[in-house]
Amino acid sequence: MLNIALPKGRLGDKVYGLLEQAGFACPEMKEESRKLVFENPSAGLRYMLVKPSDVAIYVAHGAADVGVVGKDILAEGHYDIYELLDLGFGRCHMCVAAKEDYREDPGRPVRVATKFPHIAKNYYRGLNREIEVIKLNGSIEIAPLLGLSDVIVDIVETGGTLKENHLKVFEKIMPISARFIANKASYRFKGALIDSMAAKLQEREETK
Ligand code: PRP
Repeated sequence: MLNIALPKGRLGDKVYGLLEQAGFACPEMKEESRKLVFENPSAGLRYMLVKPSDVAIYVAHGAADVGVVGKDILAEGHYDIYELLDLGFGRCHMCVAAKEDYREDPGRPVRVATKFPHIAKNYYRGLNREIEVIKLNGSIEIAPLLGLSDVIVDIVETGGTLKENHLKVFEKIMPISARFIANKASYRFKGALIDSMAAKLQEREETK
């Protein structure tokens, strides 16, 4: 069995669509249900749908052999996995954003609201700038509006959320996209199969 962890939602749906076309179909996935694990025993495939931020945990622990996860999650955590392929979609940027009229006060630490404290700390450490991190779990854009923070470090895709909340990008920290990852031991034992899956995903992406 090859165990594949996909993020629940749009990204997972897209990746499953590519894998299905590439010969890794699991018809159970198409049935309307609340199931989270889907098997195609004759093809030796088992898909699991997990929270996007948990994919790398399943793969690192070997509960899944491979998975698809955003680079934001990989950059924020420390996962002992192989990052095999940049899938080239789910593209966005990790950015520093703030109110349009924001001016930094150099006399005190910058108050940064984010779901990504590690990325934020690394970025400001590189600038030699002291910060106070305020860890939030979502709707980060509200923080500067209510004076909870000076800036946010968050993902910007279309920029729509920032615009509608009168915020703007001040710095781009890093580009983000979906990555195909593998458990290290799985890769040792099922490397050929995993490589062929990666190659087919790459092909599909290139012919798009
Ligand atoms: C993400 C991110 C931004 C938004 C950016 O939030 O945190 O809020 O998408 O997308 P845009 O630039 O296309 O507007 P998500 O939808 O994951 O929800 P969250 O509030 O739970 O973080």
